[in-house]
Amino acid sequence: MDNKEKTATLTINNTGETYEFPIFDGSVGPDVIDIRSLYAQTGHFTYDPGFTSTASCESGITYIDGDAGILSHRGYSIEELTEKSNYLEVCYLLLYGELPSKEQNADFTNKITRHSLIHEQLQYFFRGFRRDAHPMSIMVAVIGALSAFYHDSLDINDLEQREIATHRLVAKIPTLAASTYKYSIGQPFIYPRNDLNYAENFLHMCFSVPTEEYVVNPVLARAMDRIMILHADHEQNASTSTVRLAGSSKANPFACIASGVASLWGPAHGGANEAVLTMLEEIGSVDKIPEFIKRAKDKDDPFRLMGFGHRVYKNHDPRAGVLRGTCHEVLNELGIEDPHLALAMELERIALEDEYFIKRKLFPNVDFYSGIILKAMGFPTSMFTVLFSLSRTVGWISQWKEMIAEPTQKIGRPRQLYTGATTRPYVSLDDR
Ligand code: SDX
Repeated sequence: MDNKEKTATLTINNTGETYEFPIFDGSVGPDVIDIRSLYAQTGHFTYDPGFTSTASCESGITYIDGDAGILSHRGYSIEELTEKSNYLEVCYLLLYGELPSKEQNADFTNKITRHSLIHEQLQYFFRGFRRDAHPMSIMVAVIGALSAFYHDSLDINDLEQREIATHRLVAKIPTLAASTYKYSIGQPFIYPRNDLNYAENFLHMCFSVPTEEYVVNPVLARAMDRIMILHADHEQNASTSTVRLAGSSKANPFACIASGVASLWGPAHGGANEAVLTMLEEIGSVDKIPEFIKRAKDKDDPFRLMGFGHRVYKNHDPRAGVLRGTCHEVLNELGIEDPHLALAMELERIALEDEYFIKRKLFPNVDFYSGIILKAMGFPTSMFTVLFSLSRTVGWISQWKEMIAEPTQKIGRPRQLYTGATTRPYVSLDDR
C-alpha cells in the first residue's frame, strides 16, 4: 500500500472528539481508510455485517471494477485470459503472480499431472455415502479427508509442504469431482490419464467408461477449460473469505479448502448455477416470465431471479458475456436446441428492460449461463456447483497462500454489536 499522507477525520459529535485515520491507496480501485486503531482510540467498533464497505485484506491477485464490469487476474483481463490462455496457465498466474515461461509451464504441468491420482483408500470414503447424496456433500467431506492422507504436507510453516499441498489440491480436485459424479451414477471411477490436458482429463474421468474408447470432443474440452478460467478466482467473495478466515487460525490447507466448498454451496453464491436451471424449469415457458419477474420484485416472496445480481458488479458481469458466447458454441457443436437457452435469453431481455432491475443494477452474473452449458455437456444440475468448486480451488489456494505469507498475518476475529439481554440473576427451575 502506498501511504501518501492522506487521512480521514472522524468526529464523534456527542463528545466532540475527533480522530485521524490514515488513507491508503492501492494500484487501482478505491482507497481504504485504515481503522485498525479505531477501537483502541475511540472505544467504538465499525458495523458492516455484509462487508459491503470493508476491505478484509490487501491482495494482488484479482481486481474487480463492478461499475466498469472489469475482472482481471494479476493485471491480465479475463477476456484476454479466456481467449489466449488456458486453465493450468491461469493457475500458475494466480499462484505465482506471473505468466510462466516455457520451462516453468512444462515443470508446473508435469507436477500437476503427476499428482492427479487420489489415494486408493479414498475410494472407500466415497462408498460410505448414499448414491443419491448431493455431490457437494461428498466434496466437502473428501476434500477435508485429504488431510488424513497427506500428513507430509500439513505443516503450513514449511514452504515446501505448502507447495506440495498446493499442487496436490490443484491436481486432485478434478479426480475427486469426477469420482463424485461417477459415484452418484453408479459407474466405476476412472483414473486420470497423463497424456490429456487438465480439461480433457476431467471430461475423460467424467464421461469415459471402461467398456469402450472415449474420445474427448475438443470443442467441449476448450469450453470446459474456459469455464474453469472464468470461475478460477474472484477477489474476496464469501467462499474465499471463508478460506482466508479458516486459514488465519493456521488450519491445514485441505481443511481450509473444504470450508470454501461448504460456503460456495449456498444458492446465493456458487449454488446459483444449479438454482438457475431449477428456476428455468419452474418458469417453463416464455409466457410465464412476467409472473416470475413479478414474484422476484415482491418483497413478501422469497423468490429471487437466480443468476441475476451481484454484490460487486453493478454493470455487466464480464464472465456472463463470455459464457453466453460459449453457450451458443457448445449447443451448436452438439446440435442441441435447448429451450432453456431461449427462455434464458428472453428472461435476460425482459429483465434488463424492467425498471426494478435497471434501478438495482441487476444484470446476469456468471451463474446465469454456465448451467445451460454444463447441462448440454451431460452434467446433472447437482454437479454444477461441484464444477464451480473445482475451478475455484486454485483461487482459494492462491488467496490462502497470500494470506499465510503476509508478515502481519493474524487470526481473523471480528467483534459485534451486542443487542442481547444485559446481566440478570439466574432463576431456578422451581421459580420459573
Ligand atoms: C456468485 O461475490 C462474488 O464474487 C460471488 C461470485 C464469485 O465468483 O465468487 O461472483 C459468484 O456468487 C454470483 C452470485 C450468484 N447468486 C445469484 O445469482 C443469486 C441471486 N442473486 C441475489 O441473491 C443477490 O443479487 C446477490 C446475493 C448475488 C447479491 O446480493 P447483495 O449484493 O447483498 O444485494 P441485495 O440482496 O442487498 O439486493 C439489493 C436489491 C434488493 O432489493 P431492495 O431491498 O433494495 O428493494 O436488489 C434486489 C434485492 O431484493 N435483488 C434481487 C436480486 N438480487 C438482488 N431481486 C430479484 N432477483 C435477484 N436476483
